[in-house]
Amino acid sequence: ELTRLNVSESVFAHFSAADLELINLISGLARRVGVRTYLVGGVVRDIILGVPNHDLDLVVEGDAIEFSQNLNRLLNGKVVSYPPFGTSVIFMKEKKRIDFASARKEFYAFPGAAPDVEYSDLKKDLFRRDFTLNAMAISIYPDNWGELYDFFGGYRDLRNKILRILHPLSFVDDPARSIRAVRFEKKYDFHIEPFTMSLLKQTIRKNLLDSIKPDRLKEEIQLILELPNYYRYLERLYQLEMIPSILPGCIWKREYSDRFIGVERRLPEVKTIIGIDKFLYQLTPLFDDFDVKQISLLQKRLALSRHFSHKVVSYHSYKSEFMSAVEEKDIRPSEIYLRCRLMPLEFLYFLLSFYPEKSLANQRINRYLKEWRTIKTILKGSDLQEMGIKAGPHYATMLDELKLAKIDGYAKNRFEEEQLIKQSWERVNKRGEQR
Ligand code: CTP
Repeated sequence: ELTRLNVSESVFAHFSAADLELINLISGLARRVGVRTYLVGGVVRDIILGVPNHDLDLVVEGDAIEFSQNLNRLLNGKVVSYPPFGTSVIFMKEKKRIDFASARKEFYAFPGAAPDVEYSDLKKDLFRRDFTLNAMAISIYPDNWGELYDFFGGYRDLRNKILRILHPLSFVDDPARSIRAVRFEKKYDFHIEPFTMSLLKQTIRKNLLDSIKPDRLKEEIQLILELPNYYRYLERLYQLEMIPSILPGCIWKREYSDRFIGVERRLPEVKTIIGIDKFLYQLTPLFDDFDVKQISLLQKRLALSRHFSHKVVSYHSYKSEFMSAVEEKDIRPSEIYLRCRLMPLEFLYFLLSFYPEKSLANQRINRYLKEWRTIKTILKGSDLQEMGIKAGPHYATMLDELKLAKIDGYAKNRFEEEQLIKQSWERVNKRGEQR
């Protein structure tokens, strides 16, 4: 049954002036070509909830591809269409995009949906979606601009903070929706309605999650990692026994919470560092108790790079020596430097949060990250050549030794660097003679 409600006030309050102008342009075109057009999906949910969401997802009761091409004559963006699905995207500057879908019978293979003379196309489009709260539309057609189309009780569920599946096969159609369920539950602090919960548990029990494709799965996890306190979502996924399928080899422990909080606190800084795999960094706390034998499984499950696996394996192999070095009282700075250098950056930042702010270990790791990691010797290969040192692979070793000496507080200027290089050249020669 359709609720008739006009939410134009909420639409005005939701969008920026620029977006409203864009919507007006669209609704003008809709009238000219006589095609009903609606905002749909997540943005409708967030308009009603008053939550920021800058998506422009539209359903057109007609040919969305043609519609978007017409619209783009006014916008000068770039249109990318997917004819088999009847969908189309206009990409504009500053990452702005408008998504269009066609609500037309030929795009539905869906059998049992009850025919509804007036709204059948839109209704069928909405019925294919995941949860009632995501299955509403708002008309932007001039004669009923702002009218909410809610066929499945989404508005009531939003009011009552209930997450409800649209139809019993929804999780079977797309098992990734079970991860979305956890995301919406926690993000909006909703209650998963009992029948939905029982279907969710069935989906998990029947291992349907295993059929989610790696890229899709990674995307869903990434959407969670974008959210504040994302660890709470991971914890919930664990509680629901979803982790073995989506992050094989990982478990959850209560003490992780604090570590994740530390990792998240540093995220804005860490994101700016070149060479950091943000995805790995955000998950680092999971790898202390990770079953490293499962690393290739994890890599495969999420289509991760070999780099990712290497870093996890390195962490496991170097962790204990690393920890005893940074905690050791009497140790040369260069020793610490060498341990830090073996440790993947993602885990160094993790360990930084792991140790209390004022601890010796924390200060040392910090010093490595802020200073030693990028320390440079004054002398270069060309200088060594000018000093009459025969070129060869020993250059790298000699310059590296020089760097270690600098870290230990020697070789403070060019002259001292040259002295040290001369000494180390003598040692290289001696070693050569002995051979
Ligand atoms: N959708 C679905 N099943 C999925 C993914 C998406 O039914 N597995 C539908 C939902 O109606 C959803 C819409 O497609 O609202 C848009 O999907 P998406 O942009 O991924 O999510 P949003 O709901 O917009 O949520 P968010 O922006 O928080 O990701």
